Amino acid sequence: MQTLILTKNLHKVFDAGEVAVQALKGVDLNIPEGQFVVILGPSGSGKSTLLNILGGMDTPTEGEFLYRGTPLQNLNKHELTRFRRKAVGFIFQFYNLMPNLTTYENVALAAEISDNPLDPHKVLGEIGLTDREDHFPAQLSGGQQQRVAIARAIAKNPDILLCDEPTGALDYETGKQVLNYLQKINRQMGKTLIIITHNASIGSMADRVIYIRDGRVSRTVFNEHPVTADEVNW
Ligand SMILES: Nc1ncnc2c1ncn2[C@@H]1O[C@H](COP(=O)(O)OP(=O)(O)OP(=O)(O)O)[C@@H](O)[C@H]1O
Ligand SMILES: [Mg+2]
Repeated sequence: MQTLILTKNLHKVFDAGEVAVQALKGVDLNIPEGQFVVILGPSGSGKSTLLNILGGMDTPTEGEFLYRGTPLQNLNKHELTRFRRKAVGFIFQFYNLMPNLTTYENVALAAEISDNPLDPHKVLGEIGLTDREDHFPAQLSGGQQQRVAIARAIAKNPDILLCDEPTGALDYETGKQVLNYLQKINRQMGKTLIIITHNASIGSMADRVIYIRDGRVSRTVFNEHPVTADEVNW
């Protein structure tokens, strides 16, 4: 498979007042297109920092990030905006939906900024939300809101889905459902999927598990036979 994401010696230092925080201390990654990657690691180890850089929302202090062979630092502001809009779909722990827009409008708004979007009705249908299209986020359960957030990310038709603790706020059954949806999107649509989680069991669903410790990749494990969320030994 073709390499989609390549990072070389990524460093990130945050200047927080008096002290500088070294959030990433040399991360090398090579992620092929279509891979399902789970990132595990303790709180504060640099997981979100890494994901934000991969999504073009932050830049490394040192090192390189190449997307399809192009170094992101070579992009001008306009091209970087295009990358974020087109290539990447984000899913966060707390959904981040627009509260004053309906389910349909939340998804359609995201589709509008892409030049190659999917039909919002169709995406919502596939994720089982057709009968909730006119509901506002406050009228939806947590699991439904997260499914809207997934539909919103997918409707842009991105190459990569970056998920920062997507099941962190969900109960066990709902979390399982959401993970099954994400895995289905990875397998059926071929979208590269990167999920940050604190739940080590989710690792068995992925093609590859990357362990981050203190700003570095401490271990990488490949699964020959990834399982579905229903088969995970929770
Ligand atoms: N914008 C920022 N300014 C200053 N320090 C930051 C900033 N963002 C993150 N950090 C620091 O960088 C380190 C890594 O943070 P990061 O959010 O990447 O951790 P994480 O692995 O995602 O943790 P968690 O599992 O708790 O979400 C932490 O020490 C954090 O305090
Ligand atoms: Mg985090």
